[in-house]
Amino acid sequence: VKAAVFASGTGSNFQAIMEKENLGCDITLLVCDQPEAKVIAKAEALHVPTLVFEPKQYASKADFETMIRDKLQELDVQWIFLAGYMRLIGPTLLQEFEGRIINIHPSLLPQFPGLDAIGQAFRANVEQTGVTIHYVDAGMDTGPIIAQEKVPISKTDTLEQLQQKIQQVEHRLYPEVIQSLVNNNQ
Ligand code: GRF
Repeated sequence: VKAAVFASGTGSNFQAIMEKENLGCDITLLVCDQPEAKVIAKAEALHVPTLVFEPKQYASKADFETMIRDKLQELDVQWIFLAGYMRLIGPTLLQEFEGRIINIHPSLLPQFPGLDAIGQAFRANVEQTGVTIHYVDAGMDTGPIIAQEKVPISKTDTLEQLQQKIQQVEHRLYPEVIQSLVNNNQ
């Protein structure tokens, strides 16, 4: 089974997925919409082919998603794992990969969707936040939830400490969930 990871930034989750033993699928492509993103060098170091594009060079989302879809079809990719891909997925990819696009979000959805979810939780003074893995639909962080894990916020936590705690959970949970999803779908 082949899969693609979509990312826009640092790529620590991409790295964690790549390092998981017996993941159950091959990550055959990294799709990235930010030519300067650090994730690109990580993919190159791991010999994962990359598809890097600039959205502003396309007339519409449908145009660049059609380009991506054609590449994924050519490679026979079955699954898309979003790992810090900072765009909504449009109808072109949603139709082709219905039920096979997964996202990770650093909060206990439906709390704190959207940008800077960790900062949102930190400033809200809640006692816990966490990590959610969910199916992607047309909304922003709204699809059906697959797995969640809580992360307590202690009164002494700085934002940086909270970020670290959440990342640790992300890097363990996302590869585990991917492994069980692909194994249950074969
Ligand atoms: C992660 O916190 C993920 O939950 C969110 O974006 C961040 C990506 O971080 N969707 P990285 O690029 O994987 O380091």
